[in-house]
Amino acid sequence: MNLKCKDLLGLRELSEEEIMLILDTAFVMKNVLVSGNKKTAHLQGKSVVTLFYENSTRTRLSFEMASKFMGASSANISTTGSSVNKGENLADTAMTIDAMATDIIVMRHPVSGAPHYISDKVGASVVNAGDGMNEHPTQALLDMMTIIENKKSLSGLKVAIVGDIYHSRVARSNIWGMAKLGADVYIAGPSTMIPVGIEMTGAKICSNVQEACEGADIIMALRLQTERQKSSLFPSIQEYSRFFGVDDKVLSLARNDVMVMHPGPCNHGVEMTTSVYESDASYINEQVTNGVAVRMAVLYLLNSRRNAL
Ligand code: CP
Repeated sequence: MNLKCKDLLGLRELSEEEIMLILDTAFVMKNVLVSGNKKTAHLQGKSVVTLFYENSTRTRLSFEMASKFMGASSANISTTGSSVNKGENLADTAMTIDAMATDIIVMRHPVSGAPHYISDKVGASVVNAGDGMNEHPTQALLDMMTIIENKKSLSGLKVAIVGDIYHSRVARSNIWGMAKLGADVYIAGPSTMIPVGIEMTGAKICSNVQEACEGADIIMALRLQTERQKSSLFPSIQEYSRFFGVDDKVLSLARNDVMVMHPGPCNHGVEMTTSVYESDASYINEQVTNGVAVRMAVLYLLNSRRNAL
């Protein structure tokens, strides 16, 4: 089996089988990572370019490390220091990278749909590393891998996603992906941060964080994305953390073996307390570790599809 599309643009477009193919491959890649010899030859002779119009630590670094571990030539372009700062448009930038015989372009952009826009302009495979408020598919894949690693399956789990749902591409990708793998997703946040029509994805809207987290197997707190807010959508940070932050009291409502997750970077004391972040229930570092394996799997599968054509 192979991925159906030359690109990875979102989990909305992927079938359950394709998601499981990526996750199964990621578990194999994790075995490579922990084996002591991280080098493989799967991408030897191939080139991967990361094109980031927004800041990133985890996603960009893990794609770069994944590329290097598999033997690809990798390079990075960001807005500072490139001709984007001279006004070059997105399509020209993407086609310039493509003209250098690039095999895979990994792209992050503040506009929803930007990777979809360039995907049919380039021969390279395009990986969405986060587009505006739309999707962040590899983040959701690493989240689901971390859950499956510890709970065996997502089927029947109660997953509480809390906080700034409206601006969160992480929430959207997780809602699409987790629903396909059989989880029951509950969301809670300020009413101004609950997207209209989100219940059509199958996610259930809760009136407060306590309701979402009661008996939860997974609590996923989201970063408050002030950079995407045109005006404040809640009275103050203090009130946000009081009503929508995850603290020990919220944690005590969940199952004893609850997994606490956060995509990072975390605003400590806002989305969750440092004591929850550092608690035994926290799997935030495991998420980061699995991010490298998931990105290796995605690059490997997209390259395999290209080789098969
Ligand atoms: N989770 C995530 O996308 O983190 P970065 O912004 O650091 O890549």
